[in-house]
Amino acid sequence: MSSTVISNIATLVTNDPSLGDASPLGPVHDAAVVIEGDRIVWTGASSKAPATDNRVDAEGGAVLPGFVDSHSHLVFAGDRTEEFNARMSGRPYSAGGIRTTVAATRAATDAQLEANLTRLLTEALRQGTTTFETKSGYGLTTEDESRALRLAARHTDEVTFLGAHIVAPEYADDPAGYVALVTGEMLDACAPHARWIDVFCEKGAFDGDQARAILTAGRAKGLHPRVHANQLSYGPGVQLAVELDAASADHCTHLTDADVDALAHSRTVATLLPGAEFSTRAAWPDARRLLDAGVTVALSTDCNPGSSFTSSVPFCIALAVRDMGMTPDEAVWSATAGGARALRRDDIGRVAPGAYADLLLLDAPSHVQLAYRPGVPLVRTVWQKGRKIEQRWV
Ligand code: NIG
Ligand code: FE
Repeated sequence: MSSTVISNIATLVTNDPSLGDASPLGPVHDAAVVIEGDRIVWTGASSKAPATDNRVDAEGGAVLPGFVDSHSHLVFAGDRTEEFNARMSGRPYSAGGIRTTVAATRAATDAQLEANLTRLLTEALRQGTTTFETKSGYGLTTEDESRALRLAARHTDEVTFLGAHIVAPEYADDPAGYVALVTGEMLDACAPHARWIDVFCEKGAFDGDQARAILTAGRAKGLHPRVHANQLSYGPGVQLAVELDAASADHCTHLTDADVDALAHSRTVATLLPGAEFSTRAAWPDARRLLDAGVTVALSTDCNPGSSFTSSVPFCIALAVRDMGMTPDEAVWSATAGGARALRRDDIGRVAPGAYADLLLLDAPSHVQLAYRPGVPLVRTVWQKGRKIEQRWV
């Protein structure tokens, strides 16, 4: 197995608080990292780096863990440019727009869905995402949901069954019948292809009782819960997520003090998705309030054709810093270690011996520039499980 040292790193973000200045990012200056195969085997001062087969000169750039995008919806066809355009002229966002994508997705071939998924993954990887979770939810029949999961599972282990995205159009007059389908035949067909089960718990989608029934049924089949919670309005989603020990309550835009308190006393991560508020011109989730209460916060893209058509974690970091009260350090932690927590993983989201060699090299000496220089393609090189993806143009 060949070894590579990345040396001459101005700032290495390790997410190991025992290193550096004892802040959660564990920053090490003038640092080096050694990769062997798909793992990190050594970190430390550049001057003390051991001899290796290959050498990469970081030329004074910052290195950080690859982004962990713990919430996306990438198996779909078509887009909703017109819906976005109308929204920017004042029309509100509603859960119902999902039906447009369901129709396009059902009509698409496997090859078309695969091509769209691959295009979005490449786009995300170029911007530094080395791990991503993705969901079904634009099929809403047993066959279309299991097809989406099978396609997703070719690209990631973090696959989520979201048959309960909205009630399928065929069941518009019989939501109980749709919940029976999702918890019965559809779940049986989908569970073998997924790790997680999710529900859109919201007015116009599924209420608290329906969501509990669906998540509990999923758990009985070995899937672990995560919840779209409190996105468009106050509601029971966050409390339900905590009650069921969900790995994550996602969105968390409308929270009562009791919701914040419940999250703070749980293992459930609050995953904030500022691309959704950006693209729907909605009020931002209050990250500062959650952090001050002691809640673990993750940042993710929610990449989907309706409410957040961005695959860019750096863009979400910039929004979170500018508009949600996060410091650049907090936002970078949430997009790396926070995402790993939201997926209950400790082999990603940090730079330490034993972790996967998922790394980013920036064309900037500090991770702070991800927020300071918004919209600028700062990610120069990405390593995904030790595989180097170079994207230097000059
Ligand atoms: O996370 N909230 C539910 N699902 C997506 C929106 C999907 C869509 O509009 O197509 C979200 O924002
Ligand atoms: Fe979502």
